[in-house]
Amino acid sequence: MADVDRRRFLQGGVAGLAVASGLAPAIKPGEAEAATKDASPNYPSVDIVPLASIPPGAEIAFDYPDENSPAVLLRLDQPAEGGIGPDKDIVAFSMLCTHKGCPLNFLADQKSLVCPCHWSSFDPAKAGRLVIGQASQSLPQMQLEVRDGMVRAVGVDGLIYGRHTNIL
Ligand code: FES
Repeated sequence: MADVDRRRFLQGGVAGLAVASGLAPAIKPGEAEAATKDASPNYPSVDIVPLASIPPGAEIAFDYPDENSPAVLLRLDQPAEGGIGPDKDIVAFSMLCTHKGCPLNFLADQKSLVCPCHWSSFDPAKAGRLVIGQASQSLPQMQLEVRDGMVRAVGVDGLIYGRHTNIL
């Protein structure tokens, strides 16, 4: 009986210590992914530019899902993850670095989105994946669609820097 009590105490004690020390996860498995994939049905549908007027190498600034969220549409001239258009090479991303929110620059010659603050670099051809730098998360990618010849933003994959939800 004493062994059972000791075992039960140790199990509770270890779990309690893990929670108190911050070693235990603060959120349950699956919640982190849900938090970064904001599947809100309330995203606005915003016209960006006619598909026919996007030349190869284009870099077009816009705001999405509101005017406080700078984004960029790129035509990479190579197929990209999540790309739209006939060549699947048109993508769009938040322009706020996921590290501390500095505005990014697109370096066309490197086909890379680069942060001037601490030099994190993101790959727009691979869904904004972090390549190198201080950031720990990929860039939020804007969901695009073409309707009636117009490229439109209709959602966001990932959480925009500084927000707990993309729709404020
Ligand atoms: S704010 Fe971009 S790397 Fe630090």
